[in-house]
Amino acid sequence: RRRILSGIQPTGSLHLGNFLGAVKKWVELQDSGEDAFYSIADLHAITVPQDPKVLQKGIFEMTASLLACGIDPEKCVLFQQSKVQYHTQLCWILASLTTMAKLGQQAQLREKRNIIQELSTALYLYPVLQAADILLYKATLVPVGEDQVSHLNLASFLARTFNKRFGKTFPQPQPLINDDSSRRLKSLRNPLSKMSKSDSDPLSRINLFDSPEEILLKCKKAVTDSISLVEYEPEKRPGISNLVVIHSSLTGRSVHTICQEAAGLQSGDYKIVMATEIIEVLRPMRERFNQLSNEPEYLENVLKAGALRAENQAQDTWLDVSKKTGIRWSG
Ligand code: TYM
Repeated sequence: RRRILSGIQPTGSLHLGNFLGAVKKWVELQDSGEDAFYSIADLHAITVPQDPKVLQKGIFEMTASLLACGIDPEKCVLFQQSKVQYHTQLCWILASLTTMAKLGQQAQLREKRNIIQELSTALYLYPVLQAADILLYKATLVPVGEDQVSHLNLASFLARTFNKRFGKTFPQPQPLINDDSSRRLKSLRNPLSKMSKSDSDPLSRINLFDSPEEILLKCKKAVTDSISLVEYEPEKRPGISNLVVIHSSLTGRSVHTICQEAAGLQSGDYKIVMATEIIEVLRPMRERFNQLSNEPEYLENVLKAGALRAENQAQDTWLDVSKKTGIRWSG
C-alpha cells in the first residue's frame, strides 16, 4: 500500500475543477485500498481573511461535500488540519530550512500579489505548511490538480534538505496529476484562466451540488468561439474543448466518443445535450450532499475520529523530527 496525502481548502463550494482535477482520484485511490489521508486545510484558508462563521460553516460543508463524492471515512482518514497540532509545529521546523527569497518566488504567491496588496506572513509560509502536511505522513503520492505542482516541488526540496541535514527521514513526495485537460479545468467564462473558487463570476464555475437549472444556465452561457463544430482541440479551441473534457470525465466516455456523438450538432445544441447528461450524473451526489448537510452531529463525529487517527501517525513523525533536530532530549 502506498501512502497518499492530499488536501482541500474549506472555502466556497466544491466545483468541477476540484472534483475532476483531484477529488475523483482521491476516491479511486481510497477504493483501490491505498493508505490515504485527506485533509480539510483550514489553516491554509486563513492565510487570507475569512469570516469566522463562514469558515466554520465551510468546514462542515466541505466534509459533507467530500463524503457525498464518495470519500469513505472507513476506507481513508478524513480530517481537519488544525485539529492535529503537529502540522504547524513541523511547518516551523521546515521554515527554518528555506529562505524568504525562495518563498517569494513561488508562482502562486506571485499571482496573489497582483490581487492582494498586503500579503500576510502566513501566505509566504503557505507552501511550507503544505509541505508539512505531506511530510508529516511520509506520503509518497499527492493527487492534485496542475496548479499545485510548484508547491509539490518545494515539498520535495524541503524533504531533501531535511534529510541532508538531519539524516534520512522523509521519502520524496510525487504529485499525481491527470494526464488530460482535467488537470487544469478552465473557467466557463474565460477559457484562458482556470476554474477557481475565488473567481468573482459565479457563472465561471459549475459547483458539484448546483441545481439542474443552474447547471443548464452555466453550460448555455459558457464562452465558446464562433465555430459551431464540437471538437477537442485544447490549444486552438479551449472553450468547447473544456466542455468536452467535463462531459468526458464525468461520463467516463473518451473525448473522441463524445465528439463523435456530437457530430452534426451545433455547439449551442451540444451545450444543452451535455448539460442534461451531467445533471443526471451529478444528481445522486447532490442528493447525498443535501442529506448529509442535515446531519451535523454525524459530520462532527467523522472529523473527531479522523483527527485521532491522523494524530496517531503525525505524532510518530514529530517525535522523530524533534529528536533529530535537537529540540527534544528525552523519551
Ligand atoms: P484547493 O483547495 O485550491 O483545491 C483542491 C484541489 O483541486 C484542484 N483544482 C483543480 N484541478 C483542476 N482544474 C482546476 N481548475 C482546479 N482548481 C482546483 C487543486 O489542484 C487541488 O488539488 N493548497 C491546496 C490544498 C492543500 C494540499 C495540501 C494539497 C493543503 N495541503 C497537501 C495537497 C497536499 C489548495 O489550495 O487546494
